[in-house]
Amino acid sequence: MKKPLFTLAFASMALVASAQTKVTVNADQGKHQISRHIYGHFAEHLGRCIYDGFYVGESNTKIPNKNGVRLDVVAALKKLKVPNLRWPGGCFADTYHWKDGIGPKAKRPKIVNTWWGGVTEDNSFGTHDFLNMCELLGTEPYLAGNVGSGTVQDLTEWVQYVNFEKDSPMSSLRQQNGRAKPWNVRYWGVGNEAWGCGGNMKPDYYANIFRQYSTFMNPKVGDERIFRIASGASDNDYNWTETLMKNIPNTLMEGLAMHHYSVLSWGEGKKGSATQFPDEEYFKTMQQALLMDELIEKHSAVMDKYDPEKKVALIVDEWGGWYNVEPGTNPGFLYQQNTMRDAVLAGATLNIFHKHCERVRMANLAQAINVLQAVILTKGDKLLLTPTYHVLEMYNVHQDATMLPVAVKSDDFTFEKEKLPAVSVSASRDKAGKVHVSLVNIDPTKPQEISVDLKGLNATAVTGRILTSGNVHDHNTFENLNKVKPVAFSGAKLSGNTLTVTLPPVSVAVLEL
Ligand code: AHR
Repeated sequence: MKKPLFTLAFASMALVASAQTKVTVNADQGKHQISRHIYGHFAEHLGRCIYDGFYVGESNTKIPNKNGVRLDVVAALKKLKVPNLRWPGGCFADTYHWKDGIGPKAKRPKIVNTWWGGVTEDNSFGTHDFLNMCELLGTEPYLAGNVGSGTVQDLTEWVQYVNFEKDSPMSSLRQQNGRAKPWNVRYWGVGNEAWGCGGNMKPDYYANIFRQYSTFMNPKVGDERIFRIASGASDNDYNWTETLMKNIPNTLMEGLAMHHYSVLSWGEGKKGSATQFPDEEYFKTMQQALLMDELIEKHSAVMDKYDPEKKVALIVDEWGGWYNVEPGTNPGFLYQQNTMRDAVLAGATLNIFHKHCERVRMANLAQAINVLQAVILTKGDKLLLTPTYHVLEMYNVHQDATMLPVAVKSDDFTFEKEKLPAVSVSASRDKAGKVHVSLVNIDPTKPQEISVDLKGLNATAVTGRILTSGNVHDHNTFENLNKVKPVAFSGAKLSGNTLTVTLPPVSVAVLEL
């Protein structure tokens, strides 16, 4: 017999709460820092992410902006404390010639965005526009260099253009274009998805290409060392990671990327609806999201073989849920809505990144605005914060905090004959000594009674916030902006060293002790 729809069973949630989940927070064992950079974002020249999302043009008088950058977006992203922003792609990066995007806007050449909708790109948003916007946002830029269709000289000149202080051909050009001081960009991607849209390269070939490009990138950024990120594996391609780790010395590579999307199928139109998904699709999306743990575990094990001191960081610079585009929108624009499914996906993924923070030191949610698992959607002058936005805002207390190891014995979330752990947890201690515990219940029908043993912590009070909603399909719309938003949480009780939490179905809570 088919299980009842998740949404119907959800109505009787109060009757079925069970004290199944046991958690230990080892507050006395914190060793590693959760780099704030795992809270990075991604802005590609794709659909309405840059144009219409971040940038509406200097001549726009309807939408308040500074140099064309939407001020409502700046205000919203500042609350997230975005630590870094990756640009200009993605696949677009390996078609992008940075010199097309500098100098007087009227003179910039037009190009065709071949990967995303075949639209004409007028290059009105280029290097200065992006780097100045990062300053406005208080975020570090992460520039993705063109390896697929560029040259070593192009990339080394881009590095010189944005980073070189003294006299040089590129720093003079920068000054002529109105910027005296360098921006000192630390994070550089050397190609993107080199195994696919970045050039369909084989791992040995790309390893050599990377060595060549990396050699000519000035390793100094001010007083710091440049951070060169190699295009990494897709999902479980451990051979890619192995080949790169074996063949590239850590004097040339500071980070190695990996991409994993929670997608049902890569077939055209087979990714399922972002909002009207059946139970089975919900379960499979969660399976894909939780797979991140195994992927990181196994890529890290390969990296450990060649780099036991963990000098090279694993950079998950594309992650998130990927569904069919919203009906009636351009299939090449990847515009999708964002529900409570995405909220728990984000919370559970961040918990996984926290767990692996010793090796995973940067990650980028794809993508920031109007594309894939966006934190912001825009429509004309309106702006909407998605459930994913709220999770990232609640979780930002973990940025640069010390990770406290947790052990979780979770109740199961079952679908037909399959099961997943319903609850995921992470914890950290911030610089002021406050401990934050983040809990996610992916089960859309059952609340979870969770008993948390706080080992080595003398907590005196607990407060918190929760993001939940009556239905896993719930989302914010331009007609109802606040259907899903965080509220104060009173479902956590402290008694001595034990915390008892009742977590509603499909919810994300962040507690402060
Ligand atoms: O984020 C959308 C696309 O997904 C990126 O351009 C590419 O790197 C990946 O395949």
